[in-house]
Amino acid sequence: MAKALCPGSFDPPTNGHIDVIERTARWFDGVVVAVVANPSKEAVFSLAERTEMLSEALEHIDNVSIESFDGLLVDFARERGVGVIVKGLRAVSDFEYELQMAQMNAALSPGLDTMFVTANPSWAFLSSSLVKQVARYGGSVDGLVPPVVSKALVERFSR
Ligand code: PNS
Repeated sequence: MAKALCPGSFDPPTNGHIDVIERTARWFDGVVVAVVANPSKEAVFSLAERTEMLSEALEHIDNVSIESFDGLLVDFARERGVGVIVKGLRAVSDFEYELQMAQMNAALSPGLDTMFVTANPSWAFLSSSLVKQVARYGGSVDGLVPPVVSKALVERFSR
């Protein structure tokens, strides 16, 4: 059974993330979505909140499971028996960062491959950071993120 790993900070998940996961789920028997604690980024949502939002946004896909972890991605991939990481690329700027991570992961765990899928043009301008910025200043992100995320952003920033 071919399984793929879709890791990310998902703080919060956007429609771009959901699109990449949906498309990955069409090509693999199973997809593990890993919500990763990223020490270099200050998160707005807790790991548990991000996992909950993704579970709701992805409940229409049968072959996807969502987990969170704090550690090295290569260790998580090994523990789950996953040999392929799938990431989305929006622009050349993404590629430079993603290539470096893919090569580091391959150096740490030979045989662990990374595959890239090109972002759906409809969502190529989206990032979690921009979505948070818009929501923080009272802008609407409806239609750019799953409804559960839109609601959570309004609640978080209206405090
Ligand atoms: O959505 P992001 O923030 O671009 O995702 C980056 C992420 C979480 C996939 C990356 O930071 C990661 O893999 N973190 C786990 C720790 C790790 O393995 N670091 C070495 C990566 S080469």
